[in-house]
Amino acid sequence: MTNGSSVVFRPAGRLRGHVTVPADKSITQRALILAALCEQPVRIGNPLWAGDTEATASMLEAMGVRIVRSRGGEPAAQVSGRGLRGLRSPRGVLDARNSATAMRLLAAVCAGQRGRFEFDGDESLRRRPMDRIVEPLRRMGVDISARDGRFAPLVVSGGVVQATDYRLPVASAQVKSAVLLAGLFAEAETTVQEPLPSRDHTERMLLAAGVPLHRVRDAITVSGVERLDLAEVAVPGDMSSAAFLVAAATIVPGSELHLQGVGLNPTRLGFLEVVRRMGGAISWTVKAETNNEPRGDVHVRTAPLTGVRVSASEVPSLIDEVGLVALLACYAEGDSVIDGVGELRFKETDRLAAIGEILMGLGGAVEVGEASLTVHPCPLLGGSMSSRGDHRLAMLGAVAGLASREGVAVYGFAACEVTYPGFAAALQEVIE
Ligand code: S3P
Repeated sequence: MTNGSSVVFRPAGRLRGHVTVPADKSITQRALILAALCEQPVRIGNPLWAGDTEATASMLEAMGVRIVRSRGGEPAAQVSGRGLRGLRSPRGVLDARNSATAMRLLAAVCAGQRGRFEFDGDESLRRRPMDRIVEPLRRMGVDISARDGRFAPLVVSGGVVQATDYRLPVASAQVKSAVLLAGLFAEAETTVQEPLPSRDHTERMLLAAGVPLHRVRDAITVSGVERLDLAEVAVPGDMSSAAFLVAAATIVPGSELHLQGVGLNPTRLGFLEVVRRMGGAISWTVKAETNNEPRGDVHVRTAPLTGVRVSASEVPSLIDEVGLVALLACYAEGDSVIDGVGELRFKETDRLAAIGEILMGLGGAVEVGEASLTVHPCPLLGGSMSSRGDHRLAMLGAVAGLASREGVAVYGFAACEVTYPGFAAALQEVIE
């Protein structure tokens, strides 16, 4: 498969078999962070060990948290935390690498600690907007500064945090989580209102940790607490990783995949719902719930697709899957329009522009608007593309290659290590 610095994904025969996808990135991040704030050690079963979560774990270790990783057999992490306000001010800079979730959530947690905490990240993270957390945290009385008021590096001088009532200007689970986590350190109640429902893993895990939290319509209220008590956390598979396999099986003729143990949190199901609306042959069943997170199996077969209209209100539930919807739309009958995707411009890359460029470069017919994508049906020829260092684009290129006429060479494929180490091998396993 390897060719120079690119990995080539050739048109595939059918995809068949059972796959267990990697553990959920968002839930692993939250489990590590909340466990670090507990007094008793917490076991995390099936954590994701990949670029983003390793970054979070290393930052917590630099603040005095002990994390024992076991990778053989069932992977697990044993986290010995330092209590709600016990994180130590680190000697050096905390490096969030490529992970905005790590930086945004941990900056909020450090607001409640004593001392100075400086955060930085890689080139991509340095370009991403941090004013979206700086602004609400400042309202909460937190001493936080950012380069040019907007970007990493960030410096937080922890101490007093005041409660707030904050309306998010954009639907963002990361910003919502940052405000809720800072609210744990305030005396009064903190309320966050979100314009549209975004993933609610933080709320579910805070409840599991004994935090008084409630939701009334679009407003989530959390009380300040003295301690967190998290029992063992079991992390389900990541829907956003599963989505790449769902897309591949939908458009590579003759395919049928069974994905096991996938997180089926209702705030993450947008992609499956949209694919089903396009005519996709998908079904999913919740089989269990651990730490308030449902999990189960997803079954998918190849099916003819029709064009779809995705409205802005659905976008938070498939924010990481928009590229895949656009790819499927290339293989559908009739045009597709995806509205309200301006937030993609602030991901690891300007993902909105990149999706358009990549699909066009491979022979697709896509129009990129200010905050929308229009896709005209046009099966892909193939060619080459660059991941631009963005894990989700690397995997988009791979799936496009399997469904294309001539194959796709993906430059910078290693970016997929951020959330799906072994993605190419997982595909090989199911290609017949
Ligand atoms: C995440 C939230 C989403 C998502 C990201 C992970 C999280 O970002 O794109 O991959 O773990 O909270 P936004 O909340 O900024 O949209």
